[in-house]
Amino acid sequence: MQFVITADPAAWAAAAAAEVAGQVKARPDSVLGLATGNTTAPLYAALVAMIRRGEVDFSRVTTFALDEYVGLPRDHRATCWSRLQREFYGQAALPTDHINHPDTQAADLAAECRAYEERLARCGGVDLQLLGIGENGHLGFNEPGTPFDSLTHIAEITRESMLVRQASYAPGERQPHQGLTLGLKTIVQARRAALLAWGSNKRAIVARALEGPVTPDVPASILQRHPNLVVILDESAAGGLGRRQR
Ligand code: GLP
Repeated sequence: MQFVITADPAAWAAAAAAEVAGQVKARPDSVLGLATGNTTAPLYAALVAMIRRGEVDFSRVTTFALDEYVGLPRDHRATCWSRLQREFYGQAALPTDHINHPDTQAADLAAECRAYEERLARCGGVDLQLLGIGENGHLGFNEPGTPFDSLTHIAEITRESMLVRQASYAPGERQPHQGLTLGLKTIVQARRAALLAWGSNKRAIVARALEGPVTPDVPASILQRHPNLVVILDESAAGGLGRRQR
């Protein structure tokens, strides 16, 4: 487990973008697994700036989204697709045929999960998987209790995770309670994984996930078993870790 700990979120974004750019420079046709959320927004902004300055070329990169909401049209402002479109794909003019999201409008969602998993395997698997962490330890929509051997599947989103995203919906609008997500087994199969967190609201869960027991009660704890994990934190998110990491 490798740690990168920065002074503040601005330095954090630069460090996280450098990790992704380093992967793409080493292997221009990399397959990247992309997370969405407040954590990754500054990372994508920093990456877009690097791409625009010509410091890194994403034209041969393939991306797979980590998760997506069930029951929303793709262009609803809350979907992972539209968020990534706004923050990254559109800004960086990524080739659209290199971008993969599960189709959560498919009639047979179980078949779509299998197809997504197969598409990922056909592309050779993920070289670098970006991962945010929920305050309850979730990865993607793998909420506490999800089996460690899960593949891409339809997941129930907990009430607490729904609340975090409430601002993306109009008052009275029905918020999705299900999502399609890469499974925990799929996630740890990535050749390299980056656990990303900044801010004091992630302090307790980062320590629990990385230094507590490895248990499905804390899905992100499975990352302790990843042979090639980089953890990128700011001082606030790292504050609960034992001294040896800080
Ligand atoms: C969400 C998503 C995850 C994301 C995580 C952290 O609900 N399903 O993919 O990584 O929670 O979100 P944030 O970065 O906004 O804290």
